[in-house]
Amino acid sequence: MSYKIAPSILAADYANFASELARIDASGAEYVHIDIMDGQFVPNISWGADVVASMRKHSKLVFDCHLMVTNPEHHIEEFARAGADIISIHVEATPHIHGALQKIRQAGVKASVVINPGTPVDSIKHVLNLVDQVLVMTVNPGFGGQAFLPETMDKVRELAALREEKGLDFDIEVDGGIDGQSISQAKEAGANVFVAGSYVFNGDVNERVQTLRDAING
Ligand code: DX5
Ligand code: ZN
Repeated sequence: MSYKIAPSILAADYANFASELARIDASGAEYVHIDIMDGQFVPNISWGADVVASMRKHSKLVFDCHLMVTNPEHHIEEFARAGADIISIHVEATPHIHGALQKIRQAGVKASVVINPGTPVDSIKHVLNLVDQVLVMTVNPGFGGQAFLPETMDKVRELAALREEKGLDFDIEVDGGIDGQSISQAKEAGANVFVAGSYVFNGDVNERVQTLRDAING
């Protein structure tokens, strides 16, 4: 299993994306997690595809774009053009999850489906063959800095078992409240991609990423 750390740029300094991306790169993290919020699916508004395109000019990291937007199928091409490597869309945000995931792959981007803490694994069972990644939210989406919800780990275990049973191949990502402690719980449950925002940026980025790495290897 290959493990990836995905610092969330939502917790960075928005006036200095180029240097924040450089800090993430220097830390050895594999991904940068980019949260897109539309003020509808979640209360906040963050930024759109033009900002992602500007970031792309300053970084070769894998861009893991988490779309917290209603009807994400309308925005896939613009984020693909902006340089997303992975696009995550919420099953709760569209009645057309199957077609939307196909659209992501057609755009040449890795497809990822997201479930909120209250959403069961059953809701995505029939699209697991269409995805490269499943993102299990470990907080309710919309804000950084919330506490990790340990009850979501049952769903990570369920997904890992389903993957095995069906002979599928997708990464399991967790997002929200990941720190030096909760990351171990998520890894034990079967996650292999770890998003961390406030934990990474509320300290020395290199040290914090290293602590996360040590917890995974420990
Ligand atoms: C929450 C976002 C997260 C957020 C995580 O809605 O999807 O990616 O940046 O932040 P922390 O790690 O602070 O919980
Ligand atoms: Zn996110």
